[in-house]
Amino acid sequence: MPGVALIGTQWGDEGKGKITDLLCEEMDVVVRCTGGDNAGHTLVVGGETYKLRIVPSGILYPHALPVVGNGVVVNPRVLLEELDGLESRGVDTSRLRISGNAHLVMPYHLEIDKVTERFLGRNQLGTTKKGIGPCYADKVSRTGIRIQDLFDRKIFEQKVEIALWDKNQLLAKVYSRLGIEPAAVVEEYLGYAARLEPLLADTSLVVDEALRDGKGVLLEGAQGTFLDLDHGTYPYVTSSNPVASGMCTGAGIGPLALGRIIGITKAYTTRVGAGPFPTELFDEDGETLGRVGAEFGTVTGRKRRCGWFDSVLVRYAARVNSLTSIALTKLDVLGAFETVKVCVGYDLDGTTLTEVPFNQSEFHHVTPIYEELAGWGTDISAARSFDDLPAAARSYVEFVEDRTGVEVGIVSVGADRSQTLFR
Ligand code: GDP
Ligand code: IMO
Ligand code: MG
Repeated sequence: MPGVALIGTQWGDEGKGKITDLLCEEMDVVVRCTGGDNAGHTLVVGGETYKLRIVPSGILYPHALPVVGNGVVVNPRVLLEELDGLESRGVDTSRLRISGNAHLVMPYHLEIDKVTERFLGRNQLGTTKKGIGPCYADKVSRTGIRIQDLFDRKIFEQKVEIALWDKNQLLAKVYSRLGIEPAAVVEEYLGYAARLEPLLADTSLVVDEALRDGKGVLLEGAQGTFLDLDHGTYPYVTSSNPVASGMCTGAGIGPLALGRIIGITKAYTTRVGAGPFPTELFDEDGETLGRVGAEFGTVTGRKRRCGWFDSVLVRYAARVNSLTSIALTKLDVLGAFETVKVCVGYDLDGTTLTEVPFNQSEFHHVTPIYEELAGWGTDISAARSFDDLPAAARSYVEFVEDRTGVEVGIVSVGADRSQTLFR
């Protein structure tokens, strides 16, 4: 059976955790491929809420093998805290497998993330301050430290020392901060090694063997298409490639290993942090979306910016990810409105655009062109099949399909596993 990838099509927080959890039932291996603990995936199972950061959602299913792939950046302290939290709730975490090639988020990455954001002042990106950007920067400049380095004390010490040699100068001379003591970092991190060792595996091989045995393999997306380093709203992006191709790299498989590529898409749009957002609302409708949708960041608790559905963005996501279908989440939230709007194009100084402009300044200046649709103004969270939905809600889903060019295979009307409609 070819692999299935779940990808955020907007700016993250589309409900990837919920849909991953849902599809895990029929999966044998569930892989996190990119990002780190900047991700926050919320799952509601039988009234219990789980907030996962690095661990794949498959951890909650005893039959599934959860895997952290080589493309993930791992803060071991956060990972071990997450595992402890799950264990204390009765979840067996011993099955988790982690790639030794995954890079470590180090204390100096967190520090640099904080000081560079502070230095940028009102130009700041609004990162999650989890050290993600500085960690990937080190990976790219080949001064990163990988999980496998923890198992050779001499190499680890040497790498930390080399990394801190210039980073401490940067912290002290540019940002007037105290330097970080290499020995303290080494001791802290070597202290994590014993617990990580039994979890290490050649995860690319593990995933490949599962695929060859005809098992179900699910790649769990993190972040979203418009936070992608290459395809998102650069520089207001994260530092990895959460699109489908980046997920293949991060899992250690080739593109032909994927059969289904499902775009997780919120029925409206949200974004945390800075950057352009054409359909952002600053009025009462925006407030309503935030309140009814409980739009607060899982990781930072920040209020998410909210706006109407932007079909131009999701059509772009369909293109750069080769989406085969869409899972449309949080449709219930739109029940708060008598009429709803969908962005179908942009106006740029009198010119109509039907594609996302690749020029950053243009994208900053576009204003959305809306089509107004009838709302359903009612609670649909008890619907259990597509036919249970009011006609206006069904028309909304069909409009999304029409405008994005991708079929909607799953509709979600609530956070719980049971609140899902398959078409
Ligand atoms: P992720 O990062 O993509 O996994 O998404 P988050 O977990 O950060 O944010 C999505 C939020 O919406 C979570 O609190 C989910 O429990 C919740 N959620 C997911 N699907 C639905 C839905 O269909 N309706 C409602 N009302 N909430 C949902
Ligand atoms: P999930 O997987 C929403 C955003 C941050 C910031 C930008 C860069 O839960 O959908 P970073 O810390 O990655 O350097 O921050 O990216 N961001 C997310 N926004 N959901 C996420 O993950 C995000 N991960 C990063 O808010 O704007
Ligand atoms: Mg999230």
